[in-house]
Amino acid sequence: MLDFSAAAPALSSSFTAALSPPDFVQLHHEDRAAVRAELVAGLLAPQAFTSPKYLYDALGSRLFEAITELPEYYPTRTEAAIFKAHAAAMAALQPANTTLVDLGAGNCAKAASLFAAFAPARYVAVDISVEFLRQALGSLQAQHPRLPMLGVGMDFSSALQLPPQAGSGPNVLFYPGSSIGNFTPAQALIFLQQARSACAGGGLLIGVDLLKPRELLEPAYDDALGVTSAFNRNLLPHLNQLVGSDFQLADWQHVALFNAAESRIEMHLQAVRAVQVRWPGGERHFGQGERIHTESSYKWRASDFEQLLLSAGFARTQAWTDERGWFAVFWAAG
Ligand code: AVJ
Repeated sequence: MLDFSAAAPALSSSFTAALSPPDFVQLHHEDRAAVRAELVAGLLAPQAFTSPKYLYDALGSRLFEAITELPEYYPTRTEAAIFKAHAAAMAALQPANTTLVDLGAGNCAKAASLFAAFAPARYVAVDISVEFLRQALGSLQAQHPRLPMLGVGMDFSSALQLPPQAGSGPNVLFYPGSSIGNFTPAQALIFLQQARSACAGGGLLIGVDLLKPRELLEPAYDDALGVTSAFNRNLLPHLNQLVGSDFQLADWQHVALFNAAESRIEMHLQAVRAVQVRWPGGERHFGQGERIHTESSYKWRASDFEQLLLSAGFARTQAWTDERGWFAVFWAAG
C-alpha cells in the first residue's frame, strides 16, 4: 500500500476540515401536545385564528416558492433587484470579519447571493426547519468550502437569542423577504430590540414591504392562478394532521383583503357553508361566511419603519428602495 501519512496532515487541515459538513445546533424541539393545544385554542377563539408558521409544511413551503414567481407577487423580485443594485454600498457599511446570521434561511439562496459582495468570515443559518436546513447548508458548504458554516434549528418568532456556538460576532443579522410583516408593530419592536442586542458592533439588514394602494396589494395575495389560495387552503390538511381535525377542503375558500386601519393584508379561510369541525376532545361550528384568520402581513411607511428601528435602539439607519417605492431594504447599525 502507498503511504500518504506524511502528506495527509497538511491536506486535512487546509481542505478536509473546511469541506466537512457544517455543524448543527438544534434548539427547537417541537412538542406535539403543545402545538395541538395552541392550535385548538386559536380555533376556539371567538375570531378563530392560526399562526402563519403552520402554512409552511413541506407542500406549503413549495407553494410559497411558487408564489414568489407569480407576476402579481412583487416583493421577492423587487427586493432581489434592490440587493443587486446596492449590494456593494451595503457591504461598505459593514465592519470587517463579520458573521452573517441568516434569520429564516430556508434554502439559503438569498444570503448566498450576497457572499461575493459581503465576504463574511462566517455564515450562520437559522431556521425552524432544521432538516431542510441540513440539506441546503450541506450543498452550500460544498460550493463555499472555505467559509465556516453553522446551522441553527430555532424558532426565533417568540425570542431571538443566538446560541454560544454562533460566536461573538460582530454579527450582521439578515432578515429579508418582509418576514417582519408577520409581526404586529408591537411584536416587531420587541423583535428588533432583540436583534439589536444580538448584533452589537455589527448591524441588521432587513427587507420591508411598503404601504401601497389596495389595488396593488390585494392581487399579490389573491393571484389569478390561485397559487396563494392553494397555499392558504393547504393549511387545512396540515391542521388535520397536527390536531386530528376533519376539515374538508371543499368547505373553505381563500380570502385576502387589505385592512387599511391596521395597514395589513389579512388572509382568511372562509366557510362556504355552515360546517361542524371535530377533533379529538373538541369541536366547533362555523357559520356560512365565518372565517379563520391565517396570516397578517403588515405594510410599513418607510419613515415609520425607520422610527421603529431607532426606537429599538439602533444607532443609525440607511434605506434603499426600488424606483416605484414598493419595497425597502434597511441597514441599521447595531
Ligand atoms: C413570507 C410573510 C413575507 O407576507 O408576503 C405570501 C407570506 N403569504 N403570500 C408575505 C405570504 C401569502 C409572505 N411573508
